[in-house]
Amino acid sequence: MSHPQTTSRYQAAPLSDPGSGAAPRHVALIMDGNGRWAAKRGLPRFEGHRRGVEALRRAVRAAGELGILYLTIYSFSSENWRRPESEVSDLMNLLRRFVRDDLAQLHEAGIRIKVIGERGNLAPDIRSLLEEAENLTRDNGRLVLQIAFNYGSRQEIARAARLIAADVAGGRLAPDAINADLFADYLDTAGVPDPDLVIRTSGEQRLSNFLLWQSAYAEFVFLPIHWPEFDRSSFEAAIAQYASRDRRFGGTSSKERPL
Ligand code: FPP
Repeated sequence: MSHPQTTSRYQAAPLSDPGSGAAPRHVALIMDGNGRWAAKRGLPRFEGHRRGVEALRRAVRAAGELGILYLTIYSFSSENWRRPESEVSDLMNLLRRFVRDDLAQLHEAGIRIKVIGERGNLAPDIRSLLEEAENLTRDNGRLVLQIAFNYGSRQEIARAARLIAADVAGGRLAPDAINADLFADYLDTAGVPDPDLVIRTSGEQRLSNFLLWQSAYAEFVFLPIHWPEFDRSSFEAAIAQYASRDRRFGGTSSKERPL
């Protein structure tokens, strides 16, 4: 059920000076550690996920304030089906509740929702909710919130290869036309720039089948906190680390180049 609020969760003008002056355009979040956060407190895992949604709201709001234009969140992976049925069902219900409770406010705040991942084996009502969120917000331009749900990067790449093969077989595409740019157009993330910064909480240092293609030149920041603890200051600390990195994209250092 949605609760009337006097202030919006998401409505916030971008700050005139978002801080470092070098805000990443696209940040991707691996929201890890909900279970461990709960276990440390003797709480059920569900409570960790519920508090994880609150951290997610803080993250979306902070992203808008910090001048980030694209935020991708890893909400449910293709591999998460291996969890106990009750936990899978809790995560599905949290997504339902998040969309039902927050969609209007996300829309009012000018946030566009885009969903990546496999929809075919999701419950029909979840598929409808995701479509509704995408349709309602499709013309918004302040921030793109890309929700990775039932998402796995290897599966996404295989799907793209299948679509390309079908276009070649149908005579619509010449094999010689296949290059990295064209391939990217067949991924779920088509039209969204690659992430500049990938943040993972909980101290684990791996990608876990998230945006493998798209993160080719991303910077990685691993935070030693669990996802429910993530807040504006954690976000700023990650961005400060990002701003101190020298991104070369396979070329020479911009810091060594003469002005
Ligand atoms: C990892 O914590 C987190 C997830 C598997 C799901 C992330 C989900 C949320 C933040 C809340 C749901 C949000 C939406 C929009 C549905 P973990 O359970 O793997 O933690 P652990 O590694 O400590 O067990």
